[in-house]
Order: sequence, then C-alpha cells, then structure tokens
Amino acid sequence: MLLKNKKIILGITGSIAAYKSILLLRLLVKEGAEVKVVMTTAAKDFISPLVLSVLSGNKVITEFTEDNEWNNHVALGRWADLFLIAPLSCNTLAKMAAGICDNILMAVYLSATCPILVAPAMDEDMWHHPATKRNINTIIENGNSIIDVVAGELASGLTGEGRMAEPEMIFTHLIEKYFRGEALLGKKIMVTAGPTYEPIDPVRYIGNRSSGKMGYALAEAFYLQGAEVILISGPSKEKLSYSGIRLIKVETAKQMYDECIIEQDASIIVMSAAVADFRPKNAAAQKLKKSDMDVSINLEKTTDILGYLGDHKKTGQVLVGFALETENEKENAGKKLMNKNLDCIFLNSLQDEGAGFDKDTNRLTMLDKDGLTEWPLETKKSLAGKIVVKLIQKYC
Ligand code: CTP
Repeated sequence: MLLKNKKIILGITGSIAAYKSILLLRLLVKEGAEVKVVMTTAAKDFISPLVLSVLSGNKVITEFTEDNEWNNHVALGRWADLFLIAPLSCNTLAKMAAGICDNILMAVYLSATCPILVAPAMDEDMWHHPATKRNINTIIENGNSIIDVVAGELASGLTGEGRMAEPEMIFTHLIEKYFRGEALLGKKIMVTAGPTYEPIDPVRYIGNRSSGKMGYALAEAFYLQGAEVILISGPSKEKLSYSGIRLIKVETAKQMYDECIIEQDASIIVMSAAVADFRPKNAAAQKLKKSDMDVSINLEKTTDILGYLGDHKKTGQVLVGFALETENEKENAGKKLMNKNLDCIFLNSLQDEGAGFDKDTNRLTMLDKDGLTEWPLETKKSLAGKIVVKLIQKYC
C-alpha cells in the first residue's frame, strides 16, 4: 500500500467539483492513508459530510467548535504529512493569498506545518482573471504546490480551462511528488517492455502478442521505490501514470538494442520485452504487391540483447530476464538463466488461466541460484510491486 501510515488532511471548498473529492478520498484510503476531511460551509452545499465521514472513518471538521468542543486546528495542521485542498475554489484561493482566517479550513491552512497541495476548480473566465493569476502566483511564492486545472466542460455550460484535474491525476501527482519510497534512491534502473515489430514492408510486420503491461508495471514499481527509471518500450498501448519515468519508444529489435546499449550502465536491468528473435532479411521500401510477393519471407536472427548484456555485465550489476515457455518450462528457463549470465529469471506460463498476453493478471515463477520462488496469480501491478521488493531484498 503506497500510503500506509501516511496522514493526509483533505480540504474541500465550495465548488461543483467537490463531488470528485469522494473518489479522491476513496483512492487515498484504499492505499492505506489515514484521512481527515475539513470542509467549508459552502462545500456542504455540494456534498454531504456524512459520506465523507463514513468513507474516511473520521469525523468531518466543518466548524471551529462542535458540541461545545473546540476543533484544534493547530494540532490538525501539525498532525498531517500533507494538506491537500481539492477542489480549491476561487474564493478560498483569494483567502489563502491574503491570509484571511474566517473558517476552520483557513485556520488549518494557516497553522499547517506540512506541505500543501491544491487543485483549483473554477469557471474559465475566473481562472483567467488577473486577480486569480496574481493569487495563484502568491500562494506558489508562499511555498504551496498547484495541480493545474484541465480543459473540458464547465459548470456554467461553457467549455474551456478551469476544471479540477481528475481524482486519478491528483492521486498519482501526490504519490509522485510526496510519497515515493527511498530504497532505490540514486539507482538507475532500465526496464524493457512490449513486443518489437520487424517490418516486411512499410505496411506489414512480424510481431508478437505482448501488451507491455508487465514491463510498464515494473517500471512504475521501481520508480515508486525512488529509482531513476528508463523504460524502453516497443509498440504498446500502455500509458505511464508517473511523468518522472523516462520513456523511450522503439519499434524494432535493432532500435531496442541501440537504446539498451546507451543505457547499459544501469544498476538493475530488467528485460521484460518480448523481443523478436527473427526479422525479414530485406524489408521492402514500398508496399509489396500481392502479385510480386514471395510466399516465403527470408528471415535473419536479431541480436539477443539480454545475451549481449550478460556477456558484458558490469561488476555489481543485476540482470533480470523473462522467459515464456510452453513446454519443459522450468528446465528451459533455467538454461536461459545460465546461458545469458543472469541473476534471476521470471518464468511466464501460457498454461495458466488468467496469465499471459494482454491479461491484467499474471502468475510468475522466479528462478535464481537459490532455487524457485512461486508467485500466485494476481494483478500485474501488485505482482510488480512484490517483485521489486524481492529484488531489493536480494540484490540491493
Ligand atoms: N531477449 C532479448 N533479445 C532477443 C530475444 C530475447 O533480450 N532477441 C530476452 C527477452 O527480453 C527475455 C529473455 O531474453 O528477457 C528470454 O526471451 P525468450 O523469448 O523467452 O527466449 P529466447 O532467448 O528468445 O529463446 P527461445 O525463443 O528459443 O525460447
């Protein structure tokens, strides 16, 4: 869980975007955060405090005093690891810039000792008003961070800039900026993902059914442990959640090889790409006409990238391979472990229901000098997190 033991205050102000705070709260709680919600009176017109108190498991704070008890805003401001205000209305933005303390949310803001992140939401004309620009600059100068508004449909019925960023965007931004681990700080990790496409002509290619899901999940899991991550990806529909991962897109095995050579000084290299073993010997420059086409295509071998990296392995470097086998699985994977000079290899099996190409789940067996470790069927994302933790324990 990415936010285990983390304490977050979620501030909600009066904006139609307040309904998205419910989803945001769910995301935070699901990842293990303890969340206390503070909302303004205007925010209560948009969502019910009851929903937020049930979902957070904590009392929602809306007033300075409730039931003859004082809500200690100073203690709250010091309790949190992060104060997230989403949505931030134009009005509360102006109060933040001016330092006005006329409600409990502003009192918590002015006493908070933790970082403060805000996600503004307002109509486009308000967003572009010089006063708003000035207020945004002021709160940035005062040390707060902003998640930019996005363009789209607005409450006014107009379309333009001013929508609050989507909850998933706010969530990944928050994790990336404040809550990455540090186990791999200072380490460079290279991950490859996806298939490669080997052209027959400008239209046709030889490829395979790899989706890249496992490689993308691994790149993100390494990144969340504080590493500098370079992801070299063949054609894949996957998208990275975190902007700090360096993505290099390639098409062919040759291009992947060239990029891997440039990055081969990485401390850990994980070759999860399904690199094509063969390519057409002479790719045609123009589309081949059916009438001119040979029924057979002459192929040549591509370079075994992992084999090359194994032959040129640096001292202390950790080399990780993947193997996809359909028969004599463990034996064949064991051979690849030895022949390619790897520290460990993960065996994918096509035999398992729910595992394999384009699935969100996978089942893996890890082979290394100590023997076998079996990983039960689970999502590629959570499997990636566990694999990275295991690699850190074993090799870092
Ligand atoms: N690999 C590579 N370069 C290639 C082919 C494979 O770097 N040209 C890497 C893959 O990324 C994977 C490992 O080698 O980590 C094993 O790939 P796999 O396709 O299972 O095995 P091959 O070595 O290609 O052998 P075979 O196809 O005979 O099983």
